[in-house]
Amino acid sequence: MSIQKIAVIGGGTMGNGIAHVAAMAGFSVTLVDISDAALERALGTITKNLTRMVSKEKITEADKEATLGRLTTSTSLEAIAPEADLIIEAVNENFELKKKIFQTLDAAARPETILASNTSSISITKLAGVTKRPDKVIGMHFFNPVPVMKLVEIVRGLETSDEVYAAIEQLSRDFKKVPVPVNDSPGFVSNRVLMPMINEAIFCVYEGVGTPEHVDEVMKLGMAHPMGPLRLADFIGLDVCLDILNVLYEGFRDPKYRPCPLLVKMVDAGKLGDKSGSGFYDYAK
Ligand code: 3HC
Repeated sequence: MSIQKIAVIGGGTMGNGIAHVAAMAGFSVTLVDISDAALERALGTITKNLTRMVSKEKITEADKEATLGRLTTSTSLEAIAPEADLIIEAVNENFELKKKIFQTLDAAARPETILASNTSSISITKLAGVTKRPDKVIGMHFFNPVPVMKLVEIVRGLETSDEVYAAIEQLSRDFKKVPVPVNDSPGFVSNRVLMPMINEAIFCVYEGVGTPEHVDEVMKLGMAHPMGPLRLADFIGLDVCLDILNVLYEGFRDPKYRPCPLLVKMVDAGKLGDKSGSGFYDYAK
């Protein structure tokens, strides 16, 4: 299975990060979003992050220009699908939206094209089930910020073939990432372990055990985490954390995954973390 042309669907935080690392690794990449404005924003972010890497002397100006030269954009799934060897979907965590995209891609892409999803919690087996190529559907779960974080959690659906797994494992290495295989299960491994920790940190604030600052200091200084769990929750997005906890809660039907009422209340109030300007911390300034 030779992968040369990659399409990334969705130019948000994860999608633009994936397009960035794929183009930097030498692949020809088409980034797809619903509007030219969204694509311009995504290219602006990629350019800013590449410029930061030049200023830190991790890459040269020529590397940056070559990377940008390998990136093209489109607003049409149907137009890009027949060209791509691999399509990585990175849109919002909404099953109905992903289903529509996977069905469109399945109809328009060549039969051998691999369809991957960057989903953080939706079942890969369920996504594969809406296509006629379940053996060629796989999870490629990247971590934010994508250009920095080393892990790709590769999620095998019930019918993902060994050949497709091997191609995606090698591709992750070509991206200079470390692939770790996991089987399809709610929250996979990463979010099954991470989200209960974040939820418990929120319960500590809810029950008055500690302030957000104090909870984060404990985990940063005592456990050597680069960010405390509440700062990390703001960085991920409180709505995303709540969605993932609900997937764990519904998937396992185990009360240990019940979302903290404070998290629910903050999401209801529109306090979503960095992206909304406030969460456990204030980012307005
Ligand atoms: N693009 C390129 N480089 C970037 C970058 C980006 N978007 N963001 C940061 N960097 C680089 C910086 O240039 C810097 O490089 P240097 O080491 O050569 O100086 C390095 O990363 C560290 O950045 P900063 O100095 O600006 O800031 P910090 O030292 O505070 O690190 C951080 C920032 C890398 C975000 C660090 O705090 C961290 O690792 N936090 C935890 C992140 C994490 O856990 N992510 C996973 C979230 S879960 C997820 O994504 C899965 C989902 O399903 C929920």
